[in-house]
Amino acid sequence: MTGFNRWVTALHKQTEERSPTNWNLVYEDFPHTIDVTGPLLYTLFQEQWQQVQIGHIVEGSVLELEFTSEPKLCVLYDGYLTVATEGWHLHLCLEEHLGGPLCKTPPELRQHRVVSRAALYRRKNPQGEPRMWGIQFWNGAGEKMMTLFLPNPYLGDGEDLLPESKPRQEKLQLYSQLRDIYVLGKSPIPFEDNPLKRPYLSVCRSSRCYPSRQWQPTFEALQSAVEKAGLDVQVITSGCLEVCRMGPVVFYSGDRTWYTRATPEVADRIVSEHLVKGEKLAKHLYSPAV
Ligand code: FES
Repeated sequence: MTGFNRWVTALHKQTEERSPTNWNLVYEDFPHTIDVTGPLLYTLFQEQWQQVQIGHIVEGSVLELEFTSEPKLCVLYDGYLTVATEGWHLHLCLEEHLGGPLCKTPPELRQHRVVSRAALYRRKNPQGEPRMWGIQFWNGAGEKMMTLFLPNPYLGDGEDLLPESKPRQEKLQLYSQLRDIYVLGKSPIPFEDNPLKRPYLSVCRSSRCYPSRQWQPTFEALQSAVEKAGLDVQVITSGCLEVCRMGPVVFYSGDRTWYTRATPEVADRIVSEHLVKGEKLAKHLYSPAV
């Protein structure tokens, strides 16, 4: 991967948002580009998933979800990060969503959906003492999107409130590390390249693009072909890949190519001809006109 900068340039932007009850949200912005948000979110969802909760807060409503096991999927497809567990999944638009092979998302909607501001926050009580820590995202319309809740030293197991005099300060370690890397630019991003930009091959396992319910032999053929070729390419399954016919459908993220009627034999050629030699299989490329 070229052009990846492990050092974040600090924005030095701090703002405050005071509630009617005199609690004060202090935001410290950091760059919302994919080479910053990608490593950050990969770290949280693939390496620190035990420490993070996901939710949404507006007046009158709070949602908090926690991971009970490692997310089984953490992948960027057409601008959207998808993180999936056994029981639930989330999508967050980190890059412009073009709209699949037809590129049908109107430009203004792309701008509305994409993360356009990101900040670490501390929520201070009326006495000015921090009591909550997390990360907030906003979309292009300035609306609050997902909130990530980081470990809170004033909470014990099962959200039990600990005595004010006995906070577990060590629980602020993750917040401090993230702040040093992504807000202050004092430590490097702990990756050589953007982990969300690693190439992958994905097979649609939805049944709308019949006969994609036969995706499994294609998936297995891709896996063995990638292994045989010794490529550093992940092979995954996914939901709809926005083609919805002539399955099995395969998507290669390296150059955004969609293949249709990808039988196991075609899957093998996708790897040996396209990925290894750079020669796309013209007969199987998705064409909206077909
Ligand atoms: S259901 Fe397979 S691409 Fe849409």
